[in-house]
Amino acid sequence: MLEVNNLIKNFKTGFLGKEVTVLRGVSFCVESGEIFGFVGPNGAGKTTTFKCILGFALKSGGTINLMGETNGKVGIKSRIGYLPENPYFYDYLTGEELLRYMGELHGIKGKALEDKMDVLLSKVNMSHARKVQLRKYSKGMLQRIGIAQALINDPEFIILDEPMSGLDPIGRREIKDLILEEKAKGKTILLSSHMLSDVEALCDRVALLMSGRVVRTGTIGELLNEIHTDYELFLEGSGDDIQEHVRDLSVELEERAGYLVLKFDEDIKARVLEAIMKSSAEIVSLHPMRKSLEGLFVEEASKNE
Ligand SMILES: Nc1ncnc2c1ncn2[C@@H]1O[C@H](COP(=O)(O)OP(=O)(O)O)[C@@H](O)[C@H]1O
Ligand SMILES: [Mg+2]
Repeated sequence: MLEVNNLIKNFKTGFLGKEVTVLRGVSFCVESGEIFGFVGPNGAGKTTTFKCILGFALKSGGTINLMGETNGKVGIKSRIGYLPENPYFYDYLTGEELLRYMGELHGIKGKALEDKMDVLLSKVNMSHARKVQLRKYSKGMLQRIGIAQALINDPEFIILDEPMSGLDPIGRREIKDLILEEKAKGKTILLSSHMLSDVEALCDRVALLMSGRVVRTGTIGELLNEIHTDYELFLEGSGDDIQEHVRDLSVELEERAGYLVLKFDEDIKARVLEAIMKSSAEIVSLHPMRKSLEGLFVEEASKNE
């Protein structure tokens, strides 16, 4: 569906026209029928990548193959839906006028358009506000109408820039369900987010973007497995000698519920166990701690600082 290869984007800034590189060789693929998450902190380059894909920003290097087209042909756009990050629509239009306008741009007319609008308005729970001007909408309402307009042409490929932002938990749930519904219809979805919990529950695969580079790509499971697992070891009857024995290892020690708890990484597990055998303490339990995507995110962010 989409193949981005070594995408580079420079911006000229300030009046001296100094060049800054925002995308430093971004590569990833989105397969047909999947939900792909583009995750990274603010300023990582997610929006810029999307704008390059859509042809709203000119790339400085690299290649983009979107549905078999490499030069961003206009015809493809009719098969794409796009929710911009800060949808600033025509303020004085009402919700339904915006949808009608977008639908007409895509060549949809008459009853087909009116029917489509009704369906979408109820899907995003905006039927009640269809005759209200966009300038009176809250951020959450703009987000909902923005998603509705992105779906008006029944696109094969849906690009959503931060679709969950500005929504309360119920709104997020609804939008997630809506995205899953599109996937069930066989649509392909590329979305960006800095909210990892949403991505974790929604996406088939994710790419982590940090400072203009994709640092990891894979299924959520793959990314989590890739991280070395941390262990927690509970000891009983802990002689003071334990501290002595693990002194040279990077082990975190704490007391919890009357036990001495040791925390350490996979790579020193054998050495920690060996050290404990030499002490007078007894092992009560040893278990791996599943890291969250959040942890990976923080880990990668600290590497890139
Ligand atoms: N038109 C522009 N001119 C100069 N710099 C820009 C422009 N648009 C974005 N940037 C910079 O590019 C970086 C990435 O921005 P963006 O793609 O919006 O990140 P994200 O969507 O991941 O938050 C930021 O440092 C931002 O300041
Ligand atoms: Mg952005």
